[in-house]
Amino acid sequence: MDEKIFLCPSNALDNSGLAVPFDVVYEGRTCSAFAIRYEGEVHAYLNRCVHIPMEMDYQPNKFFDTTGQWLLCATHGAVYSPSSGQCVEGPCRGQLIKITLSEADSNVYWHTNYNLKTIDF
Ligand code: FES
Repeated sequence: MDEKIFLCPSNALDNSGLAVPFDVVYEGRTCSAFAIRYEGEVHAYLNRCVHIPMEMDYQPNKFFDTTGQWLLCATHGAVYSPSSGQCVEGPCRGQLIKITLSEADSNVYWHTNYNLKTIDF
């Protein structure tokens, strides 16, 4: 059954600001993920570039470019839309793997699904 997992307080995510990292199990493997806020909406993706499956942040939790309009991959400069994860420029093809988020009572939650689970210790 799909679950809603607490991620962070809403005020931890500023528009075009630093991301909040979290870990998930995607298709049976532990992966890093990150949540951001863009134009008021929260979004989350696996921290895995579509070009080569590497983590993308160039400083810890820093994914936005200087304009605050695009997400960047540090390795070869792929550029992604913050709202869809679609690659718009650079060597990537396709889009980041999106994780469903919701916001309620000033908190942000991420949602599990059939291939996206929490890490069980
Ligand atoms: S690994 Fe991200 S652009 Fe090459």
